[in-house]
Amino acid sequence: MTALSYLVIIFGYLALLLFIFGIIYRAWRWNRLPQGFSWGLFPKPTRWVVTSMLWKILAWPTLFKADRLLWAGALFFHLGLLVLFAGHLGSFIDIASLGERIGIPSESSYVIGITAGTIVAITILFYISRRLFIRRSSEISVFADHFWLWVLLVVVLVGIYSRVFHEVSSDAVRDFALSVVAFNPALPPQNFWFLMHVLLSEFFIIYAVIGKPIHLVGQLFTQYILVSEEGS
Ligand code: HEM
Repeated sequence: MTALSYLVIIFGYLALLLFIFGIIYRAWRWNRLPQGFSWGLFPKPTRWVVTSMLWKILAWPTLFKADRLLWAGALFFHLGLLVLFAGHLGSFIDIASLGERIGIPSESSYVIGITAGTIVAITILFYISRRLFIRRSSEISVFADHFWLWVLLVVVLVGIYSRVFHEVSSDAVRDFALSVVAFNPALPPQNFWFLMHVLLSEFFIIYAVIGKPIHLVGQLFTQYILVSEEGS
């Protein structure tokens, strides 16, 4: 188990480094692409531009018009991820007491986590089946489209399995996570399924930076350009 622990720590730092530099690099590279016209042409972001950008980024009205089922699936997928992300902040801060202060009892963290995880797993299966069984989608799907979905599904399923059958103490996870960010890594909790969950998620993060899934940065830039043009 110690070898697995070292892998978790080494790949953890690698994922963190790649994540930070990967995002900066992608934004920089995107910005260097030929734009066709000068940045100087863009109007200042008005309140209308910002509201319209937020609406398009958060509610995906174009997707709603084109494919309501996919829109609903994507909505559940991203909401589930958001809840999981909030729950995972518990690996760094005492989120249970923060939750209690806003009226979420700490005992409900289990139900919330498992429900959000299950929703994410089901929506990933929905994405996978579209790519496999709907001809129009399968024709335009490449290996990378399938690969990241399967990796994320395994990360989520191992996370759920670990939480249900081999729950680790959140204090022990927090001690470990904080030691890592303080660059003085302690050994992680010696729980095989937890370690596999973290290692696989680190692979996913590394793949997300090098491969396809990070689209948030591009979304912000693209929506800014589109909405600015509509408003001018
Ligand atoms: C792509 C990234 C990740 C995804 C999608 C993900 C997803 C999940 C899911 C669905 C669960 C089960 C429900 C829950 O307890 O919330 C879970 C549990 C858990 N995750 Fe993650 N996770 C990710 C990354 C990480 C990382 C980097 C850590 C490192 C600290 C981590 C720590 C945990 C812990 C401690 C649990 C509870 C496991 C247990 O009690 O045995 N996760 N995760």
